[in-house]
Amino acid sequence: MKTLIDILEEKVGAAMAVVSGQEDCSAIIKPCADTKFGDYQANGVMGLAKKLKTNPRKLAEQVVAALDIADLCEAPEIAGPGFINLRLKPELVSARVMDIAQDPERLGIKRVESPQTVVVDFSSPNVAKQMHVGHLRSTIIGDCLCRLLEFDGHQVVRQNHVGDWGTQFGMLITYLLEQHPNLQDSTDTIEIDDLEQFYRQAKQRFDQDEAFADTARQAVVSLQAHEPASVAIWQAIVQESRRHYQPIYDFLNVGLTVENERGESFYNDLLAPVVLDLKDKGLAEASEGAICVFPEGFKNKEGCPLPFIVQKSDGGFLYATTDCAALKYRSEQLKADRMVYVTDSRQKLHFDMLFATARAASWASPDTELAHVMFGTVLGEDGSPLKTRSGENIKLQDLLNEAVERAQAVVEVKNPGLSETKKQQIAQAVGIGAVKYADYSNNRTSDYVFSFDKMLAMEGNTAPYMQYAYARVQSIGRKAQQKGVDVSAELAGLRHLVLVEPAELDLAKHLLRYGEAIESAIVDYRPNYLTSYLYELAQKFSSFYASCPVLDAALDQRATRFMLCDLTARTIKHGLGELLGIDVVEQM
Ligand code: ARG
Repeated sequence: MKTLIDILEEKVGAAMAVVSGQEDCSAIIKPCADTKFGDYQANGVMGLAKKLKTNPRKLAEQVVAALDIADLCEAPEIAGPGFINLRLKPELVSARVMDIAQDPERLGIKRVESPQTVVVDFSSPNVAKQMHVGHLRSTIIGDCLCRLLEFDGHQVVRQNHVGDWGTQFGMLITYLLEQHPNLQDSTDTIEIDDLEQFYRQAKQRFDQDEAFADTARQAVVSLQAHEPASVAIWQAIVQESRRHYQPIYDFLNVGLTVENERGESFYNDLLAPVVLDLKDKGLAEASEGAICVFPEGFKNKEGCPLPFIVQKSDGGFLYATTDCAALKYRSEQLKADRMVYVTDSRQKLHFDMLFATARAASWASPDTELAHVMFGTVLGEDGSPLKTRSGENIKLQDLLNEAVERAQAVVEVKNPGLSETKKQQIAQAVGIGAVKYADYSNNRTSDYVFSFDKMLAMEGNTAPYMQYAYARVQSIGRKAQQKGVDVSAELAGLRHLVLVEPAELDLAKHLLRYGEAIESAIVDYRPNYLTSYLYELAQKFSSFYASCPVLDAALDQRATRFMLCDLTARTIKHGLGELLGIDVVEQM
């Protein structure tokens, strides 16, 4: 069904058109910041009045007089210079809640009318290196965006642009062969316990031993020439790295598999042609030995054009070249209508220049949307980027294990009587949920401080608070059952809601706004709009539950209250479970 904002937009827009004789009037409907004044406000009249050079308040009065809205709202009120405040009628709220209840799959939220093919580039760790906290952010934010876009009705293509190519593979291959000489005749298999250390040692050998470095350089050449022996060893390294990041994806409940991998290596043979294409189109030129694009509008501090380098003076290709080839591929082969890249904000300039280059080269049509969804840094409690105490990169697996361990302690305090398996299961959901939720609930472009204590707190906008809120609603159903009350039958018999108490009405209205929250999260690629909505929902439920008894309610009110409980639970479960990928638990 249409959102209330859409409906009000139409109605008020139509009245504005009638009064002004102008077509396409935009009512600019926004939720009221303070519900004292109403539920929604129309802000469009002021702009229209300016255009018509007339008094905005007068115009607002005329619009209100022409407004056919009595089936939805109480009598509209005009405020300030010409805002129109709208308050929903309880009968409308009731009818819409009933509609949502009939649609358990989508909770009354419609799909987009014109679905797109959206390529989402996210996670993208680097082979033979430890995944770092930045990759954690990219992985979970990207996953949430994929879920949101899919729910919206788009066709989403997940692309894990793994860093699996480059000159560093020469030294990695050479070092691996040195450590495992039998690898080539496959009497040996590799197991790299610590990717970080492996990489560091390879680098050390490369820097210290000239003969080693020479062999490594040859290995790069033979790898790039697809020489089978080198390719086999390279593959072993890629596979071994996958063994390190796949469990993290699984642990995080992120649906990435090897199927979604299209690493940098995939584009190897497309790099030379892409540079040629840029040259042919007159976009790339030689500059100080390198081949560069100078996309319009990019200047350095001195005002000189900034180069987007696509080929080094030694003929080698770069990160940027691969991204050019990938973008072109996504456009031409994957038929993307939209491409979304999720990386930290330090790559902003890279993507701005990439997009400008792609537009200039017509790899993306003017209506192909290109979005860089960037995020800030995860900080330690001391305010500098999160590291271990000895200053090393944190291993994600260790971090997640610790979250689950600490969650165990929380469960132990909350519910010591549960079985060990139950406790373990809850701890996993709470621990992983806490890490993800803490990330989602922050404005993604800001840095945030990683604090186990904060993210595992039972109070505030945290996963455990939300999971507990869900479990608490569910416990009402269990209590009803113990009392012999047939909740399903009462819900099935309900025709319309009896919304009397302010807290009931407030909760019901908030339930109607789930679709708006999802839409705004999608438009701005901001999961925190969704977490804020859910947190507010849990708080409104709390106020409702504190002031409105459910099981002991008068019979004509009880079914309404069961309905509010049921829909609250379903909304939280959908938001956490389906859209954020955070498990809910029935008991906590
Ligand atoms: N592997 C890169 C890194 O770790 C991220 C890749 C992002 N995606 C892209 N198409 N450039 O920084």
